[in-house]
Amino acid sequence: MRLKLGVCVAFGLAVTAARAVEPTLKEAFAGKFLVGTALNEAQFDERNAADAALVKKQFNSVSPENVLKWEVVHPQPGKYNFASADRFVQFGESNGMFVVGHVLIWHAQTPKWVFQDEGGQPLSREALVERMRDHIHTVVGHYKGRIRGWDVVNEALNEDGTMRQTPWMKIIGDDYLRLAFQFAHEADPSAELYYNDYSLENEAKLKGAVALLKPLKDGGVPVTGVGVQGHDNMQFPTVQQEEAAVSQLGALGLKVMITELDVSVLPYPDASTSADISKRLAEDPKWNPYPGGLPDQMQEALAKRYADLFGVFVKHSDVVSRVTFWGVTDGTSWLNNWPIRGRTNYPLLFDRNGKPKLAFASVVGTAGKRN
Ligand code: GLA
Repeated sequence: MRLKLGVCVAFGLAVTAARAVEPTLKEAFAGKFLVGTALNEAQFDERNAADAALVKKQFNSVSPENVLKWEVVHPQPGKYNFASADRFVQFGESNGMFVVGHVLIWHAQTPKWVFQDEGGQPLSREALVERMRDHIHTVVGHYKGRIRGWDVVNEALNEDGTMRQTPWMKIIGDDYLRLAFQFAHEADPSAELYYNDYSLENEAKLKGAVALLKPLKDGGVPVTGVGVQGHDNMQFPTVQQEEAAVSQLGALGLKVMITELDVSVLPYPDASTSADISKRLAEDPKWNPYPGGLPDQMQEALAKRYADLFGVFVKHSDVVSRVTFWGVTDGTSWLNNWPIRGRTNYPLLFDRNGKPKLAFASVVGTAGKRN
């Protein structure tokens, strides 16, 4: 009996010790910001039981990788398909997570018909505004009070900070953003509403984002936050660029979120290379250098890179409200197939077996650091 008790106590201490050295992500950053991840269907349906368990253990916010994009949720005029998104939202709710809606207004993964009339001609401004209103009211309204924050507009800017000439911009004009936020607010006045974009750490684009968002915010448009996607690599953004983005956007009075974080360790092809047949590129060690595993030295470099980025998020946790990774494990990351199909990338904190990488510990290590 005494022996049994001793074993139990020892086991209990070991568990406590293990927990003390390795809190989960959501525990480590509690009180600072939420830590989220983006889910595919197999994960939120729990067919991928291992990933689903990992998500429940580590994260307290979820975003849908694809099921709320226009092409999925509203594939044809007047036809809404909420089946998959309903299961996604249910997964988040039943696990007590902050559920993010992604994305209402974007130029990609949006069917062509959205911008055309029945004869295939470009839609008038009035008709497109009406279509936008219907989409936003229907989708946001469907999840009123359940989806707590929405990416309302995605990627409205070019790299140089000018407005991207998307069909939304060309047909409606630059007040399409104001209208989109207004419609989302009408549909769910208590939801947080975000502008979301990539490369906001690039100086010119950051300047463009401030120029875009400041008048919206100051003019009373119901924008509550800005999502810095964070599709990073080993060089970009620098710590200084990351810090400038987070602090300048935060200074607008907006919540700042890192919404799609991953760090590619693979070379990025230039335009002439990617025009080549991508199948062959994936077989070329120059473009796919680590098909059998990430060497220790790279593992360490990635851990350091993640620690540097999280150092900025922790330092600015007064304005950073959430950090969401774009995917759960390296194996299911979109970066294995973009911008070249069939490579082996290592952009996240969990390896192909769902085991924490060195970068996991280095990220968690930033949580306790004083700045
Ligand atoms: C963009 C979108 C996301 C996703 C990623 C890549 O950043 O906002 O929905 O498509 O690209 O997967």
